[in-house]
Amino acid sequence: MNEIAQTTEQTQVTEPKIETPSTARSIHFDIFTLFPEMFTGPLSESIIRRARERSLLSVALHNIRDYTTDRHHVCDDTPYGGGGGMVMKPDPIFRAVETALTRPAGWTLAPEDAYVNLPPWDAETPAPLPADTPIILMTPQGRRLTQSVVAELSQYRRLALICGRYEGVDERVRTQLVTDEISLGDYVLSGGELAAMVIIDAVTRLIPGALGYELSAHQDSHAPGLDGLLEGPQYTRPYAFRGEVAPDVLLSGHHANVERWRREQALLRTLARRPRLLDRINLSQKDQAFLRQHGWSPRGE
Ligand code: ADE
Repeated sequence: MNEIAQTTEQTQVTEPKIETPSTARSIHFDIFTLFPEMFTGPLSESIIRRARERSLLSVALHNIRDYTTDRHHVCDDTPYGGGGGMVMKPDPIFRAVETALTRPAGWTLAPEDAYVNLPPWDAETPAPLPADTPIILMTPQGRRLTQSVVAELSQYRRLALICGRYEGVDERVRTQLVTDEISLGDYVLSGGELAAMVIIDAVTRLIPGALGYELSAHQDSHAPGLDGLLEGPQYTRPYAFRGEVAPDVLLSGHHANVERWRREQALLRTLARRPRLLDRINLSQKDQAFLRQHGWSPRGE
């Protein structure tokens, strides 16, 4: 039995079969990286794998090094003005991005054409890039990735992500090529690859049909279904585990009580862990009264 058939058999046990309508929205990512192999694992497991199998998601990996024409395929150089570290050269990045994005989604350079048989490219003249495809540089200097940025990105049909390495990229990449810069957070990774994978994963969850159970993306922490609250505790069988039992309200079958309990737990968890998030959330009178009982007061009060 091949791998895909095996997956189908396994998933049938726990998940309803999802029909993908022919009109389904799909998203294509063009990834520009020096380490395309880093993506192999994440792209071939779980939800991302299924989204690709259902043609809801496609990913083209472009190795920036393939677009070098010098003997040693050099992609970095020492910084002008001295200082430590290396900087990614602009020309292979421009060449890779302009070549791929002026071709249909899904195009990649044939392996045998790397270095030696590249499509013509004019180093001096900017290529006409598609206006509806953001070109995003992954960098700790970018705007912070949040669920609302993920939702914004999920509206595009095609996105290009450039993964920086070394100490950074030549500034001309920023000034002339990229349309957006995104950071995962205030820490420095060894490169943008992991950040790009995070974006692919988070965006894929929002493609209709990519999750087995559509409500689950809607009810994730930070998602619209919870109004930006953190998700509260979840329980499954067994009822009792190491002396701790699941809350009886969850077993009561009383839908309204379950919903209210979940809402209160989300409020409590947000108050305990991320209280400033509550300042930005539309809280009902009931929510506010509940939170006040637990020591919260609105900002400025
Ligand atoms: N590259 C290095 N660090 C990064 C970060 N924090 N976010 C996105 N890309 C990065």
